[in-house]
Amino acid sequence: MARTYNILIVDDEQSVVFLLKEELSELDKYEVATAYDGAEAINVLQSQPFDVVLLDVKMPRLSGIEVLKYIREQHPTTIVIMLTNFADVKTAIETMKLGAYDFVSKPYVREELLATIDRALELRRLTIDNKLMEYELNRQGLAREFVGTSPAIVSLIRTAQKIADSTAIVQIQGPSGTGKELVAHLIHNASPRKNRPFVIVNCASIPDALLESELFGHEKGAFTDAYAMKQGLVEVANGGSLFLDEVGDISPMVQPKLLRFLETGEFRRVGGTNAMKVDVRIVSATNKDLQKEVEAGRFREDLLYRLNVVTIRIPPLKERKEDLPLLIEYFLKKKMKGKALKRLSDEALHVMMQYDWPGNVRELEHVIEGAVILSHDDLITAKDITLTASAEMQKAKPAPLAPEGADIISLEEMEKIHIERALRQNNYNRSKTSELLGITPKTLYLKVKKYRIKTPARN
Ligand SMILES: Nc1ncnc2c1ncn2[C@@H]1O[C@H](COP(=O)(O)OP(=O)(O)OP(=O)(O)O)[C@@H](O)[C@H]1O
Ligand SMILES: [Mg+2]
Repeated sequence: MARTYNILIVDDEQSVVFLLKEELSELDKYEVATAYDGAEAINVLQSQPFDVVLLDVKMPRLSGIEVLKYIREQHPTTIVIMLTNFADVKTAIETMKLGAYDFVSKPYVREELLATIDRALELRRLTIDNKLMEYELNRQGLAREFVGTSPAIVSLIRTAQKIADSTAIVQIQGPSGTGKELVAHLIHNASPRKNRPFVIVNCASIPDALLESELFGHEKGAFTDAYAMKQGLVEVANGGSLFLDEVGDISPMVQPKLLRFLETGEFRRVGGTNAMKVDVRIVSATNKDLQKEVEAGRFREDLLYRLNVVTIRIPPLKERKEDLPLLIEYFLKKKMKGKALKRLSDEALHVMMQYDWPGNVRELEHVIEGAVILSHDDLITAKDITLTASAEMQKAKPAPLAPEGADIISLEEMEKIHIERALRQNNYNRSKTSELLGITPKTLYLKVKKYRIKTPARN
């Protein structure tokens, strides 16, 4: 099994490096690299990201302070612990002002050093979680359980668990709302990488021109708006998994770069010259038929074959209605959060079994949510279930704005109608629409999804 954390030891005293390497390598969780002076350290750092660097202050050629500055600038998520030769408080404080996490004086006490590294790793995890939250809006509380006992689901879960250990690239296919993202989580959580980042990149919500730099990062000055260096998500995901959602939407411009990365594990930041190598498990998802995309000349065939080494297909809900009762119970429990559970009347269940669920499990979850609110006592009856409304919503004919005196609709409803109108006016061009609405394309994307606004298939 791969070791979990990457540590770089930099010191010009060979004996210190040797001893540290021995002690850290003994613990299975650390993969240790070494460098004997500052210049060598930078060379190593240019080819691979590290979680923690143990850095001597005084070294020939390039001092620890210089290396520290380089790391803060180029690898902001790498944590630096300084090694000071004697308790030179002044230098130590100076390095902390420059962004070192802590310092340990030599000769070090083993337990103390290990505890400092542990704390550093915890801090790093938190920093990365925060960074990822920017990308994972509204995702807290994502359920981690894949509910279902139909043969298709049972075999799907078994496959997911079986392949979790390997680094094989997996593609998850299935219509909207079937749980593709959930399966990607499942694979990550069942893998030896579960304590490392799970990074989601939504390829459809990031404008074409930005996707490459979101994925691979960019150097300062790489393009007009690149005021500062930015780490790519592949670097952030190092050691963990990268989930490429809506991968069919990657533009032909970025496809070759992704292909190269998948083939070699190497990438370059935009405007950068060094090839960096990371260890990332790739899972992708799409609700497009990528074979058709290939035929239409929109998707590279070689990239498709890289992505679908292992394929997991999630069938639509209407093909596995035997899962409905269990799913309903699961969502009821989730909505009631420990309060007395509501039940479904036989008739209500019957209505739901008859329905086709075009929006799949996501739609089911919304319907249950609505039914819980509408029902008065602990029995949900057929009249509490609004399937027709949701079916109509999917045809989506925006109502005119409410005239004075008409029923007041909720702000959310209003927002939905407004977005639908703006999209139509702009011929469903998302960048134009988001500009018009004064929101980012990503926000627009998330709102379209949240309100389940139907847009014509994009090409
Ligand atoms: N089998 C399941 N058990 C429990 N929850 C599920 C299941 N399938 C889907 N869900 C829930 O339904 C919602 C939609 O799932 P998810 O976002 O993974 O779908 P998706 O396939 O990625 O959809 P889209 O193509 O629209 O992005 C989520 O809240 C998810 O937790
Ligand atoms: Mg999804």
